[in-house]
Amino acid sequence: MEGSRISDTVIENQIEYIQQKDEFDYLKCLINSIGKGVCVGILLHGPPGTGKTLLAISLAKSYNASYYIIDGSPDLDRRDIEGNWELLKGDTKFNYGPLTLAIKDANENGISFIIINEINAIRENEQISLNSLLSEKHINLISKGFEKHELNPKSKLIILGTMNKGVAGINKLQEAFEDRFIICPEINYPLKDKEIEIVTKLSGCDNKIADIVVDSARQIRKQATQDFSITKIFSTRLIVNFCMLISKMPLIYLKNNIENVIINKLGTTPEEKKSIAMILDGKMFESKIRDELEDKKSVELIWENDVDITNEKISEVIVLTKKCFQNYIEKYGIKNTFKYNGFIMWKVIHWMWMHNRETFQKYIKLTEMFNLPYQFREETGKDHLYNGNITLTYIRWIYQENLETLTKIIKEIFPVA
Ligand SMILES: Nc1ncnc2c1ncn2[C@@H]1O[C@H](COP(=O)(O)OP(=O)(O)OP(=O)(O)O)[C@@H](O)[C@H]1O
Ligand SMILES: [Mg+2]
Repeated sequence: MEGSRISDTVIENQIEYIQQKDEFDYLKCLINSIGKGVCVGILLHGPPGTGKTLLAISLAKSYNASYYIIDGSPDLDRRDIEGNWELLKGDTKFNYGPLTLAIKDANENGISFIIINEINAIRENEQISLNSLLSEKHINLISKGFEKHELNPKSKLIILGTMNKGVAGINKLQEAFEDRFIICPEINYPLKDKEIEIVTKLSGCDNKIADIVVDSARQIRKQATQDFSITKIFSTRLIVNFCMLISKMPLIYLKNNIENVIINKLGTTPEEKKSIAMILDGKMFESKIRDELEDKKSVELIWENDVDITNEKISEVIVLTKKCFQNYIEKYGIKNTFKYNGFIMWKVIHWMWMHNRETFQKYIKLTEMFNLPYQFREETGKDHLYNGNITLTYIRWIYQENLETLTKIIKEIFPVA
């Protein structure tokens, strides 16, 4: 059965939780063991981005049960979770909320789940409305004449709360409320090897890259807990996102990704940013990743072309292409080479195609190192090669869709102009 949610949070629906030890099996066994006719609360707590919400969703899915996600916030009103009246063309209609719907689903299907993210962010009043569900297995809808919704003796309703314990600025749970949750498992960062496995599986990156990133993330986490010189935590979520981006994006943007995905995201002050950058430098983070990605891309290149592309061959292609570019510039001048914004002009590309096709095709073949042919195939359904040679359609596509990258390649990566 499809899970429903009242939350706007986007969580990749297809991702499944990968258990660190046996926490998933344990929770499943616990849910199986409890008797019917009860509403049980489980409080998952731990640092951000460790998969708590995902674990809760995966549990519900493993029962093929419906689940309702509530995002805890101080604005959350009792009526949001129980149900509210809506005025419709002069008529009124009652919209049942997730608590009521979950009881109905549990009664019909034997089990259902309510997942409450950041449960400690909800106000006391709303905590109270959950209290009665947890201990008396029913709720009375105040706004609907105390209409009673009760869990039947054959069903189970599981309330999975998630929270970041120890994070500053968040409310504590009311003691009576917390007490009603039968267990409180801590979901912490996985062990190193497990985290590498999670990152590799979810981001699709290479094992070695995951290893490098996880290693540095752990070092930054250590620093964060030791001397508090870094306040935000390097979560598994962040590692996954970073690894996914660097594997999918051209290598030329590695530095941008390190800055934007790691340093600017984790560092709130210039000092923090400096500390993070220093740890990364100390670990030779960028160059290690660059080496790995370069290795991987040249392997792909060899595989795609069935020829061995060595560094000497790359230099050879660059030298030849540079000569052609120089000829063009001598003939037509720099004004006819680059636009005012620094981007290469199409007429240069066209001239290369008309006068130095073979050399230029070899040069453009180097873009295979940057995932561009893959993107081209995804977007157009076409192959970038015809009879083993680069096509004009591909070159035109790069020019139209990736002009910035193309200019960067021409000016900086494999400099020819
Ligand atoms: N054990 C894991 N299995 C699968 N994915 C994981 C795991 N740990 C972390 N992730 C990654 O972290 C992302 C975020 O997970 P999730 O939203 O469940 O974390 P959370 O602990 O609920 O975070 P928050 O405390 O910020 O709400 C996942 O989409 C996934 O990419
Ligand atoms: Mg969460």
